[in-house]
Amino acid sequence: MLVDSFGSIALYGSLAIITGFAIHILSQLVAKSDPKKPPVVFHFVPWLGNAVVFGMQPIKFLQDCQKKYGDIFTFKMAGMTITACMGADGNQFVFNSKQNLSSAAAAYNHMTKYVFGSDVVYDAPHNIFMEQKRFIKAALGADNFRKHVPMITSECNEFFEKNLSGSTGVVDAHTMFSKLIINTASRCLMGKEIRSNLDDGPVAKLYYDLDQGFQPINMMFPNLPLPSYKRRDIANQKMTALYASIIKRRRDENDNIEQSNSDILQTLMESSYKDGTPLPDEHIAHMMIAVLFGGQHTSATTATWTMLELAARPDIMKELRQEMIDKLGSLKAELTFDNLKDLTLLEACVRETLRLHPPIFTMMRKVIADKLVYEKTGHTIPKDHVLFAAPGVTQVDDKYFNNPTKYDPYRWIEKTDPVHAMEVGADANEDYGFGAVGISSKSPFLPFGAGRHRCIGEQFGYLQLKAVIATFLTTFDIDYPEGSKGVPEPDYTSMVVIPKHPCDIRYKRRQ
Ligand code: HEM
Repeated sequence: MLVDSFGSIALYGSLAIITGFAIHILSQLVAKSDPKKPPVVFHFVPWLGNAVVFGMQPIKFLQDCQKKYGDIFTFKMAGMTITACMGADGNQFVFNSKQNLSSAAAAYNHMTKYVFGSDVVYDAPHNIFMEQKRFIKAALGADNFRKHVPMITSECNEFFEKNLSGSTGVVDAHTMFSKLIINTASRCLMGKEIRSNLDDGPVAKLYYDLDQGFQPINMMFPNLPLPSYKRRDIANQKMTALYASIIKRRRDENDNIEQSNSDILQTLMESSYKDGTPLPDEHIAHMMIAVLFGGQHTSATTATWTMLELAARPDIMKELRQEMIDKLGSLKAELTFDNLKDLTLLEACVRETLRLHPPIFTMMRKVIADKLVYEKTGHTIPKDHVLFAAPGVTQVDDKYFNNPTKYDPYRWIEKTDPVHAMEVGADANEDYGFGAVGISSKSPFLPFGAGRHRCIGEQFGYLQLKAVIATFLTTFDIDYPEGSKGVPEPDYTSMVVIPKHPCDIRYKRRQ
């Protein structure tokens, strides 16, 4: 009897699921689509939608959909309804949409507020966040950069002595550059106290626990009753308390009397909101966590991909060294903020890495108005749709770049790609509250985003990457170890695009 009723429940359950699936599929095939709304990409599984195909090869998925549906289409992914706006015009539309129509906060804050903490970035009112960006940007100027370059090179040399001490060896490029970048960035931006705590104190573990709150699962389920979520929250409290104690000590001891602190922390400690309120310590701590996450994975993965591309191109490495000899006098010359500017090919290599391997290849906003109209196609995008801009696709579009899948830093020097014709003339400048930024209305090359949410760490990012790569190349020769397949495939399963492992390179200390 009991077995019978279980059997019937199972049978009816299966029938209900099959019927549900059939209705879901038929409704997509038969129902007439609304021509005013963007076309919807077909998917088999409700809720999950196109998540699996997107998750495996997002660039190809977006390129295929663009070919099939045009420059605007809607797809489903893990409960989200996403409308992708493709091409340079799509980027422009998403990045420069008005704040009362679509919002980055509505797209990101459910995840970021737990990692960064309250009242900063997307958890702050938009005008306050723009002020916070202005404070951070104030710390990222030439005076501080001059002090940062020797700090970066000394961190690199210490790191090489400690971790790559033999004359030759094989090392996982991503692991190595993640460690090196956290050392250099924390020394320059986070403050000497955080840097020393990385080696001997709790910061490495706190960083790890916070980082576990920045996984794709947190985007879908920001707050599950799981240990990793609890550790994330505890880490945020401990990091906030650690910063509070550092701020107190600096104030009590009048630590910056000789203007020796060139980090963001010091600048924030001396900043006040427009209404005259000094930044509360908690805001400072939470902004420092946000800065750490804004710069860490993005810069670490760019350093990694650059070295992985160069390891396959001894010809470019040779030219990079020649450039240093020609412009700086010798490979032993001390790197400075000013002489790094002369290393054009090195800059082009970083730029080319950001084109081919942008750490953030799509950027999101959520429609918060009842509807949003994309004038170019006349489509109406409903409220709650997530908007996607996809610079990761425009950056490998042969409409804008010749031979787009080739790693070719010289394209940025020779400037023969169609993209350069589009960039001619001054870009429209707009001040959203953190200083004027080009709204980059014409360029399909946007690894740092555009508009009000544009990155403020770009200059520091280039400076740090150039200093790290130049120091590495003057110290080591690199190539791929025997049996390696060369430049690895991208892994899209983490929040930034990292190389698939193994991503080993072989280093040989130069004489
Ligand atoms: C190679 C290095 C970096 C890359 C590729 C990168 C990329 C980006 C991108 C694509 C955005 C725009 C996000 C969006 O529109 O949704 C962004 C914003 C931002 N980045 Fe960076 N970034 C880098 C380094 C840094 C560094 C070093 C810092 C801090 C010093 C930083 C701080 C920020 C901040 C505060 C924002 C503003 C977010 C907003 O307004 O919504 N970034 N970055």
